[in-house]
Amino acid sequence: LQRKNIQRPVMVGVAADSGAGKSTFLRRVMRMFGSEIPKGHTPQGELITVICLDDWHNRDRQGRKEDSITALDEKCQNFDLMAEQLEALKNGFDIMKPIYNHETGRIDPPELVSPNHIVVVEGLHPMYDARVRKLLDFSVYLDLDDEVKIAWKIQRDMAERGHTLESILASIEARKPDFERFVLPQRQYADAVIQVKLTELLPDDKEGKILKVRLLQREGVPGFKTSYLFDEGSTIEWIPCGRRLTCSYPGIKFRYGPETFYDSDFSAIEVDGEFAKLEELVYIESHLSNTGTKYYGELTQLMLAAQNTPGAYNGTALFQTIIALKIREIYEQLTGRKVEPVVRS
Ligand code: ADP
Ligand code: G6P
Repeated sequence: LQRKNIQRPVMVGVAADSGAGKSTFLRRVMRMFGSEIPKGHTPQGELITVICLDDWHNRDRQGRKEDSITALDEKCQNFDLMAEQLEALKNGFDIMKPIYNHETGRIDPPELVSPNHIVVVEGLHPMYDARVRKLLDFSVYLDLDDEVKIAWKIQRDMAERGHTLESILASIEARKPDFERFVLPQRQYADAVIQVKLTELLPDDKEGKILKVRLLQREGVPGFKTSYLFDEGSTIEWIPCGRRLTCSYPGIKFRYGPETFYDSDFSAIEVDGEFAKLEELVYIESHLSNTGTKYYGELTQLMLAAQNTPGAYNGTALFQTIIALKIREIYEQLTGRKVEPVVRS
Protein backbone atom coordinates (compact mmCIF):
# COMPACT_ATOMS: atom_id res chain seq x y z
CA LEU A 1 0.00 0.00 0.00
CA GLN A 2 1.13 3.44 -0.96
CA ARG A 3 1.17 6.55 1.24
CA LYS A 4 -0.83 9.56 0.05
CA ASN A 5 -0.25 13.15 1.03
CA ILE A 6 -3.53 13.33 2.96
CA GLN A 7 -2.47 12.19 6.40
CA ARG A 8 -5.86 11.89 8.00
CA PRO A 9 -9.18 12.28 6.18
CA VAL A 10 -12.11 13.68 8.12
CA MET A 11 -14.53 10.75 8.13
CA VAL A 12 -18.29 11.22 8.22
CA GLY A 13 -20.86 8.43 8.58
CA VAL A 14 -24.31 8.70 7.04
CA ALA A 15 -26.74 5.97 8.04
CA ALA A 16 -30.23 5.40 6.71
CA ASP A 17 -32.48 2.81 5.23
CA SER A 18 -32.47 2.72 1.44
CA GLY A 19 -35.10 5.07 0.07
CA ALA A 20 -34.67 7.45 3.02
CA GLY A 21 -33.19 10.24 0.89
CA LYS A 22 -29.49 9.48 1.29
CA SER A 23 -28.53 10.20 -2.31
CA THR A 24 -30.43 13.47 -2.20
CA PHE A 25 -28.61 14.43 1.00
CA LEU A 26 -25.20 13.30 -0.27
CA ARG A 27 -25.65 15.40 -3.40
CA ARG A 28 -26.05 18.46 -1.13
CA VAL A 29 -22.93 17.47 0.81
CA MET A 30 -20.86 16.97 -2.34
CA ARG A 31 -22.02 20.33 -3.70
CA MET A 32 -20.82 22.00 -0.51
CA PHE A 33 -17.31 20.86 -1.47
CA GLY A 34 -17.65 21.92 -5.10
CA SER A 35 -18.47 18.53 -6.63
CA GLU A 36 -21.51 17.05 -8.30
CA ILE A 37 -22.14 13.34 -7.87
CA PRO A 38 -20.45 12.00 -10.99
CA LYS A 39 -21.37 8.76 -12.69
CA GLY A 40 -19.44 5.74 -11.59
CA HIS A 41 -19.29 3.69 -8.48
CA THR A 42 -17.46 5.61 -5.76
CA PRO A 43 -17.92 9.37 -6.33
CA GLN A 44 -14.53 11.04 -5.83
CA GLY A 45 -14.46 14.82 -5.96
CA GLU A 46 -11.49 17.08 -5.44
CA LEU A 47 -12.08 17.33 -1.70
CA ILE A 48 -14.63 14.62 -0.97
CA THR A 49 -15.11 10.91 -1.64
CA VAL A 50 -18.32 9.02 -0.91
CA ILE A 51 -18.04 5.31 -0.16
CA CYS A 52 -21.07 3.04 -0.08
CA LEU A 53 -20.87 0.41 2.64
CA ASP A 54 -22.86 -2.10 0.58
CA ASP A 55 -19.48 -2.81 -1.00
CA TRP A 56 -18.60 -4.92 2.02
CA HIS A 57 -21.59 -7.26 1.59
CA ASN A 58 -20.17 -10.75 1.91
CA ARG A 59 -22.86 -12.40 -0.18
CA ASP A 60 -24.23 -11.48 -3.55
CA ARG A 61 -27.97 -11.37 -4.28
CA GLN A 62 -28.03 -15.06 -5.12
CA GLY A 63 -26.17 -15.93 -1.92
CA ARG A 64 -28.60 -13.91 0.17
CA LYS A 65 -31.49 -15.72 -1.43
CA GLU A 66 -29.92 -19.14 -0.82
CA ASP A 67 -29.21 -18.35 2.83
CA SER A 68 -32.51 -16.43 3.24
CA ILE A 69 -30.89 -13.39 4.79
CA THR A 70 -31.45 -9.75 3.90
CA ALA A 71 -28.85 -7.13 3.02
CA LEU A 72 -29.66 -5.49 6.36
CA ASP A 73 -28.43 -8.45 8.42
CA GLU A 74 -25.10 -8.08 10.25
CA LYS A 75 -24.18 -11.53 8.95
CA CYS A 76 -24.31 -10.13 5.44
CA GLN A 77 -21.46 -7.61 5.99
CA ASN A 78 -17.75 -8.27 6.17
CA PHE A 79 -17.17 -5.93 9.12
CA ASP A 80 -13.61 -7.19 9.69
CA LEU A 81 -12.50 -6.11 6.24
CA MET A 82 -14.60 -2.91 6.40
CA ALA A 83 -12.95 -1.87 9.67
CA GLU A 84 -9.47 -2.80 8.49
CA GLN A 85 -9.78 -0.94 5.18
CA LEU A 86 -11.48 2.16 6.57
CA GLU A 87 -8.82 2.39 9.26
CA ALA A 88 -6.11 2.16 6.60
CA LEU A 89 -7.81 4.93 4.63
CA LYS A 90 -8.12 7.06 7.74
CA ASN A 91 -4.41 6.58 8.33
CA GLY A 92 -3.63 7.84 4.85
CA PHE A 93 -3.26 4.59 2.89
CA ASP A 94 -4.79 3.51 -0.41
CA ILE A 95 -7.16 0.57 -0.26
CA MET A 96 -8.47 -1.99 -2.75
CA LYS A 97 -12.13 -1.87 -1.90
CA PRO A 98 -14.56 -4.57 -2.97
CA ILE A 99 -17.54 -3.50 -5.10
CA TYR A 100 -21.12 -4.64 -4.74
CA ASN A 101 -22.84 -4.07 -8.06
CA HIS A 102 -26.42 -2.97 -7.43
CA GLU A 103 -27.47 -3.59 -11.01
CA THR A 104 -26.32 -7.18 -11.33
CA GLY A 105 -26.50 -8.07 -7.64
CA ARG A 106 -22.98 -9.55 -7.94
CA ILE A 107 -19.65 -8.75 -6.36
CA ASP A 108 -17.33 -7.05 -8.90
CA PRO A 109 -13.50 -6.93 -8.88
CA PRO A 110 -12.16 -4.45 -6.29
CA GLU A 111 -11.29 -0.82 -7.06
CA LEU A 112 -8.57 1.49 -5.78
CA VAL A 113 -9.72 4.17 -3.34
CA SER A 114 -7.28 6.79 -2.08
CA PRO A 115 -7.62 8.98 1.01
CA ASN A 116 -9.34 12.32 0.43
CA HIS A 117 -9.83 15.41 2.60
CA ILE A 118 -13.32 14.22 3.47
CA VAL A 119 -14.47 10.65 3.23
CA VAL A 120 -18.17 9.96 3.68
CA VAL A 121 -19.13 6.39 4.47
CA GLU A 122 -22.80 5.93 3.76
CA GLY A 123 -25.13 3.01 3.95
CA LEU A 124 -27.05 0.73 6.24
CA HIS A 125 -24.34 0.20 8.89
CA PRO A 126 -21.77 3.01 9.32
CA MET A 127 -22.26 3.09 13.10
CA TYR A 128 -22.90 -0.62 13.68
CA ASP A 129 -19.39 -1.93 14.25
CA ALA A 130 -17.50 -0.29 17.14
CA ARG A 131 -14.20 -0.28 15.23
CA VAL A 132 -15.74 1.60 12.31
CA ARG A 133 -17.69 3.91 14.60
CA LYS A 134 -14.48 4.96 16.31
CA LEU A 135 -13.08 6.22 12.99
CA LEU A 136 -15.95 8.66 12.42
CA ASP A 137 -15.45 12.34 13.23
CA PHE A 138 -19.15 13.05 12.72
CA SER A 139 -22.20 10.90 12.12
CA VAL A 140 -25.65 11.52 10.68
CA TYR A 141 -28.78 9.38 10.78
CA LEU A 142 -31.69 10.05 8.40
CA ASP A 143 -34.75 8.89 10.27
CA LEU A 144 -38.00 8.48 8.35
CA ASP A 145 -41.17 7.50 10.17
CA ASP A 146 -42.86 4.42 8.74
CA GLU A 147 -45.81 6.50 7.53
CA VAL A 148 -43.46 8.72 5.51
CA LYS A 149 -41.55 5.72 4.13
CA ILE A 150 -44.84 4.27 2.95
CA ALA A 151 -46.05 7.56 1.44
CA TRP A 152 -42.77 8.14 -0.48
CA LYS A 153 -42.53 4.57 -1.67
CA ILE A 154 -46.11 4.69 -2.92
CA GLN A 155 -45.39 7.89 -4.84
CA ARG A 156 -42.23 6.48 -6.40
CA ASP A 157 -42.93 2.78 -6.91
CA MET A 158 -46.56 3.05 -7.99
CA ALA A 159 -45.98 5.99 -10.30
CA GLU A 160 -42.58 5.08 -11.74
CA ARG A 161 -42.24 1.35 -11.38
CA GLY A 162 -45.80 0.07 -11.71
CA HIS A 163 -45.87 -1.75 -8.36
CA THR A 164 -49.17 -2.36 -6.54
CA LEU A 165 -50.02 -0.89 -3.15
CA GLU A 166 -50.11 -4.39 -1.62
CA SER A 167 -46.66 -5.29 -2.92
CA ILE A 168 -45.21 -2.02 -1.59
CA LEU A 169 -46.68 -2.52 1.88
CA ALA A 170 -45.54 -6.15 1.87
CA SER A 171 -41.95 -5.22 0.97
CA ILE A 172 -41.81 -2.61 3.74
CA GLU A 173 -43.20 -5.12 6.27
CA ALA A 174 -40.72 -7.79 5.15
CA ARG A 175 -37.74 -5.45 5.73
CA LYS A 176 -39.01 -4.16 9.03
CA PRO A 177 -37.71 -6.77 11.54
CA ASP A 178 -34.14 -6.62 10.22
CA PHE A 179 -34.32 -2.86 9.83
CA GLU A 180 -35.33 -2.48 13.48
CA ARG A 181 -32.71 -4.94 14.61
CA PHE A 182 -29.67 -3.85 12.59
CA VAL A 183 -30.18 -0.30 11.30
CA LEU A 184 -32.42 1.71 13.62
CA PRO A 185 -30.33 1.16 16.81
CA GLN A 186 -27.48 3.15 15.23
CA ARG A 187 -29.55 6.27 15.88
CA GLN A 188 -28.20 6.30 19.44
CA TYR A 189 -24.66 6.95 18.14
CA ALA A 190 -25.53 9.74 15.71
CA ASP A 191 -24.34 13.30 16.27
CA ALA A 192 -27.14 14.63 14.09
CA VAL A 193 -30.48 13.00 13.38
CA ILE A 194 -32.93 14.33 10.81
CA GLN A 195 -36.37 12.97 11.67
CA VAL A 196 -39.09 13.13 9.03
CA LYS A 197 -42.69 12.78 10.16
CA LEU A 198 -46.16 13.42 8.79
CA THR A 199 -47.44 16.94 9.45
CA GLU A 200 -49.39 17.79 12.57
CA LEU A 201 -50.87 20.87 10.92
CA LEU A 202 -53.50 18.82 9.10
CA PRO A 203 -55.57 16.29 11.01
CA ASP A 204 -55.11 12.69 9.78
CA ASP A 205 -52.96 13.59 6.79
CA LYS A 206 -51.43 10.42 5.37
CA GLU A 207 -50.31 11.77 2.03
CA GLY A 208 -46.81 12.70 3.15
CA LYS A 209 -46.72 15.89 1.07
CA ILE A 210 -46.59 18.23 4.07
CA LEU A 211 -43.96 17.12 6.58
CA LYS A 212 -42.81 17.85 10.06
CA VAL A 213 -39.02 17.64 10.10
CA ARG A 214 -36.79 17.73 13.17
CA LEU A 215 -33.05 18.26 13.47
CA LEU A 216 -31.54 16.71 16.58
CA GLN A 217 -28.00 17.86 17.34
CA ARG A 218 -25.72 16.32 19.94
CA GLU A 219 -24.05 18.74 22.31
CA GLY A 220 -20.32 18.57 22.99
CA VAL A 221 -19.04 17.02 19.74
CA PRO A 222 -15.60 18.45 18.80
CA GLY A 223 -15.95 20.95 15.95
CA PHE A 224 -19.78 20.74 15.94
CA LYS A 225 -21.37 24.02 17.02
CA THR A 226 -25.05 23.23 17.25
CA SER A 227 -27.35 25.54 15.36
CA TYR A 228 -30.16 27.29 17.23
CA LEU A 229 -33.21 29.47 16.84
CA PHE A 230 -33.28 32.91 18.56
CA ASP A 231 -31.76 32.12 21.92
CA GLU A 232 -29.44 29.21 22.64
CA GLY A 233 -30.80 26.76 25.20
CA SER A 234 -34.24 28.30 25.52
CA THR A 235 -37.50 26.68 24.45
CA ILE A 236 -39.39 28.41 21.68
CA GLU A 237 -42.43 27.98 19.49
CA TRP A 238 -42.58 30.28 16.51
CA ILE A 239 -45.19 30.78 13.80
CA PRO A 240 -43.37 33.13 11.45
CA CYS A 241 -46.28 33.75 9.06
CA GLY A 242 -46.92 37.45 9.06
CA ARG A 243 -45.64 40.52 7.32
CA ARG A 244 -42.19 39.16 6.49
CA LEU A 245 -42.99 35.57 5.44
CA THR A 246 -45.65 34.42 3.04
CA CYS A 247 -47.31 31.22 4.21
CA SER A 248 -49.77 29.13 2.30
CA TYR A 249 -52.22 26.71 3.92
CA PRO A 250 -51.62 24.99 6.37
CA GLY A 251 -48.86 27.39 7.44
CA ILE A 252 -45.48 26.87 9.09
CA LYS A 253 -44.56 26.22 12.66
CA PHE A 254 -41.09 26.15 14.22
CA ARG A 255 -40.01 24.80 17.56
CA TYR A 256 -36.64 24.81 19.27
CA GLY A 257 -35.38 23.51 22.58
CA PRO A 258 -33.11 21.18 24.52
CA GLU A 259 -33.91 17.49 24.40
CA THR A 260 -32.67 14.25 25.89
CA PHE A 261 -32.07 11.59 23.27
CA TYR A 262 -30.86 8.12 24.34
CA ASP A 263 -29.80 9.68 27.68
CA SER A 264 -27.61 12.31 26.00
CA ASP A 265 -27.93 16.09 25.68
CA PHE A 266 -29.23 17.25 22.34
CA SER A 267 -30.99 20.31 21.03
CA ALA A 268 -33.82 20.07 18.54
CA ILE A 269 -35.02 22.45 15.86
CA GLU A 270 -38.30 21.51 14.25
CA VAL A 271 -40.25 22.84 11.29
CA ASP A 272 -43.70 21.67 10.27
CA GLY A 273 -45.13 22.87 6.96
CA GLU A 274 -43.83 24.27 3.68
CA PHE A 275 -42.13 27.48 2.60
CA ALA A 276 -44.15 29.37 -0.01
CA LYS A 277 -41.26 31.44 -1.41
CA LEU A 278 -37.66 30.34 -1.00
CA GLU A 279 -36.32 33.93 -1.41
CA GLU A 280 -38.07 34.81 1.84
CA LEU A 281 -36.13 32.13 3.73
CA VAL A 282 -33.55 34.79 4.46
CA TYR A 283 -36.02 35.99 7.10
CA ILE A 284 -35.88 32.56 8.78
CA GLU A 285 -32.12 32.44 8.28
CA SER A 286 -31.72 35.75 10.10
CA HIS A 287 -33.24 34.13 13.21
CA LEU A 288 -31.06 31.03 13.09
CA SER A 289 -27.56 31.13 14.61
CA ASN A 290 -24.52 28.86 14.25
CA THR A 291 -25.63 27.69 10.83
CA GLY A 292 -22.05 27.45 9.61
CA THR A 293 -22.61 29.95 6.79
CA LYS A 294 -19.76 32.12 5.51
CA TYR A 295 -21.89 35.13 4.62
CA TYR A 296 -25.36 36.37 5.50
CA GLY A 297 -27.85 34.65 3.20
CA GLU A 298 -25.70 31.65 2.21
CA LEU A 299 -28.25 29.17 3.55
CA THR A 300 -31.00 30.83 1.51
CA GLN A 301 -28.78 30.90 -1.60
CA LEU A 302 -28.06 27.18 -1.22
CA MET A 303 -31.76 26.41 -0.83
CA LEU A 304 -32.55 28.50 -3.92
CA ALA A 305 -29.80 26.80 -5.93
CA ALA A 306 -31.40 23.43 -5.06
CA GLN A 307 -35.01 24.46 -5.61
CA ASN A 308 -35.70 21.55 -7.97
CA THR A 309 -34.52 18.83 -5.60
CA PRO A 310 -36.83 16.60 -3.50
CA GLY A 311 -38.10 18.35 -0.37
CA ALA A 312 -36.75 21.75 -1.50
CA TYR A 313 -39.63 23.62 0.14
CA ASN A 314 -39.69 21.91 3.52
CA GLY A 315 -37.55 21.09 6.52
CA THR A 316 -35.81 18.16 4.82
CA ALA A 317 -33.87 20.47 2.48
CA LEU A 318 -33.42 23.12 5.19
CA PHE A 319 -31.90 20.74 7.74
CA GLN A 320 -29.93 18.70 5.18
CA THR A 321 -28.41 21.97 4.00
CA ILE A 322 -27.57 23.01 7.56
CA ILE A 323 -25.89 19.64 8.17
CA ALA A 324 -23.94 19.98 4.91
CA LEU A 325 -22.78 23.41 6.13
CA LYS A 326 -21.86 21.85 9.47
CA ILE A 327 -19.78 19.16 7.75
CA ARG A 328 -17.87 21.94 5.99
CA GLU A 329 -17.42 23.74 9.31
CA ILE A 330 -16.34 20.60 11.17
CA TYR A 331 -13.81 19.86 8.43
CA GLU A 332 -12.41 23.38 8.80
CA GLN A 333 -12.37 23.17 12.59
CA LEU A 334 -10.62 19.80 12.68
CA THR A 335 -8.03 20.52 9.98
CA GLY A 336 -7.52 24.27 10.15
CA ARG A 337 -8.08 24.42 6.36
CA LYS A 338 -10.60 26.66 4.57
CA VAL A 339 -13.21 25.74 1.96
CA GLU A 340 -14.52 28.45 -0.38
CA PRO A 341 -18.31 28.78 -0.57
CA VAL A 342 -19.65 27.40 -3.86
CA VAL A 343 -22.75 29.56 -4.10
CA ARG A 344 -22.10 33.32 -4.01
CA SER A 345 -24.28 36.04 -2.51
P1 ADP B 1 -31.72 6.65 -0.99
O1 ADP B 1 -30.45 7.09 -1.64
O2 ADP B 1 -31.64 6.61 0.49
O3 ADP B 1 -32.24 5.37 -1.54
P2 ADP B 1 -33.01 8.79 -2.50
O4 ADP B 1 -32.32 10.08 -2.20
O5 ADP B 1 -32.70 8.13 -3.81
O6 ADP B 1 -32.82 7.76 -1.30
O7 ADP B 1 -34.55 9.05 -2.37
C1 ADP B 1 -35.48 7.99 -2.49
C2 ADP B 1 -36.78 8.55 -3.07
O8 ADP B 1 -37.37 9.46 -2.16
C3 ADP B 1 -36.58 9.29 -4.36
O9 ADP B 1 -37.67 9.00 -5.22
C4 ADP B 1 -36.59 10.74 -3.97
O10 ADP B 1 -37.09 11.56 -4.98
C5 ADP B 1 -37.53 10.72 -2.76
N1 ADP B 1 -37.11 11.74 -1.80
C6 ADP B 1 -35.87 11.91 -1.30
N2 ADP B 1 -35.82 12.93 -0.46
C7 ADP B 1 -37.07 13.44 -0.43
C8 ADP B 1 -37.66 14.54 0.26
N3 ADP B 1 -36.95 15.30 1.10
N4 ADP B 1 -38.96 14.79 0.05
C9 ADP B 1 -39.68 14.01 -0.79
N5 ADP B 1 -39.18 12.96 -1.46
C10 ADP B 1 -37.89 12.68 -1.29
C1 G6P C 1 -28.52 -3.07 -1.15
C2 G6P C 1 -29.31 -2.03 -0.40
C3 G6P C 1 -30.37 -2.69 0.41
C4 G6P C 1 -31.26 -3.51 -0.49
C5 G6P C 1 -30.42 -4.50 -1.27
C6 G6P C 1 -31.23 -5.23 -2.28
O1 G6P C 1 -27.74 -3.80 -0.29
O2 G6P C 1 -28.50 -1.25 0.44
O3 G6P C 1 -31.13 -1.72 1.09
O4 G6P C 1 -32.20 -4.18 0.25
O5 G6P C 1 -29.35 -3.90 -1.92
O6 G6P C 1 -31.20 -6.52 -1.88
P1 G6P C 1 -31.86 -7.69 -2.75
O7 G6P C 1 -31.58 -8.90 -1.94
O8 G6P C 1 -33.30 -7.32 -2.86
O9 G6P C 1 -31.13 -7.65 -4.05
